[in-house]
Amino acid sequence: MTCAQAPEKMFRLDEKRVFITGGGGGIGRSAALLFAAFGAHVVVLDRDLAAAQAVGNEVADAGGTAFAAALDVTDESDVISAFTAAEETAGGFDILINNAGISIRRPSTELSLADWNSVVSVNLTGMFLCSRTAARSWIARGVAGTVVNTASIMSYSGGGLHPNVSYQSAKAGVVNLTRTLAVEWADDDIRVNAVAPTWVRTPLIEHLAADAAQMQKIRDLTPLKRLAEPEEVAFAMVFLAGSAASMTTGHVLAVDGGYLAK
Ligand SMILES: NC(=O)c1ccc[n+]([C@@H]2O[C@H](COP(=O)([O-])OP(=O)(O)OC[C@H]3O[C@@H](n4cnc5c(N)ncnc54)[C@H](O)[C@@H]3O)[C@@H](O)[C@H]2O)c1
Repeated sequence: MTCAQAPEKMFRLDEKRVFITGGGGGIGRSAALLFAAFGAHVVVLDRDLAAAQAVGNEVADAGGTAFAAALDVTDESDVISAFTAAEETAGGFDILINNAGISIRRPSTELSLADWNSVVSVNLTGMFLCSRTAARSWIARGVAGTVVNTASIMSYSGGGLHPNVSYQSAKAGVVNLTRTLAVEWADDDIRVNAVAPTWVRTPLIEHLAADAAQMQKIRDLTPLKRLAEPEEVAFAMVFLAGSAASMTTGHVLAVDGGYLAK
C-alpha cells in the first residue's frame, strides 16, 4: 500500500483550515466539532452569527481552534467579503463544507416563486457561489483544496414524506454541481464530493421528531430502521475532505442507512 503518510494519520486534518457554511446548527455544528477533533482549524460561517459564535465557543471548549463569522450564502458580495475576511484572519483555507440548507415543504401548486427562489438560492446557488469563491482563491494560491457539498437522499427521489419540490430539485442540482465542478477543477487538483444524508436528527426536521406516525414511516423506509445522527454525516465529510479520499472526486456518499439501496 502506498500512503502519503502513516496509514493511521491519513484521516488526520492537522494544519488544515476548514470553512463550514451553515455551521451554526445541526450537521454543520457536528462537522465543526469533528473537524476540530481531527486537528483542523475551523471557520464557522452562518447567517445566524450568534449560533456560529456559540459553535465556535464549543469547539474552543473542546480544545480546538475556531473562528466564527456571519455569512449569507445567497449573497454574492457577502460570500466574497466573508471569505476574504476569514482568509485574512485564518490565513487561507483548504477545505470547504457547503452545508447551509433550508426547506419549505408545501404542495407545488401552493408554492410561491419567492419560496421556490429562496430554497434554490440557499441549497444550490449558495453552494455554487461558495465553491467558485473558494476555487478562485485556491487556483490563485496553488492550493489543492477540497469541497464537500451536502446533498440528500431527496436528490434522487421524487417521494419523501411531504411535498417538497424546491428542496428536491435543488438537492438534485447539488449532485450534478458536484460532478461538474469535480471534472472541471480536477486539473487544478481540487476535489469536489458530496454527502447524501437520510433524515438526520437536527432542527431542520424537528416537526417530524414529534410525529410518531412519520417516525415510523422513516423506520419502514430505512433498512437500518432509524434516523441518522449528525455526527454520522460529519464522519463522512471528514473522510471525503481528507487524504484517505485522495482518489475520490465527483462522488456522492450516501449516509442513509440503506435508503437508496432499496
Ligand atoms: N436534517 C436532515 O434530515 C437532512 C437530510 C438531508 C440533508 N440535509 C442537509 O444538511 C444540511 C444541514 O441541515 P441541518 O439538518 O443541519 O439543518 P439546520 O437547520 O439544523 O442547520 C442549517 C444551518 O444553516 C444555516 N443557514 C440557513 N440559511 C443560510 C444562509 N442563507 N446562509 C448561511 N447559513 C444559512 C442556518 O442558520 C442553520 O444554522 C442542509 O444542506 C440540509 O439540506 C439535512
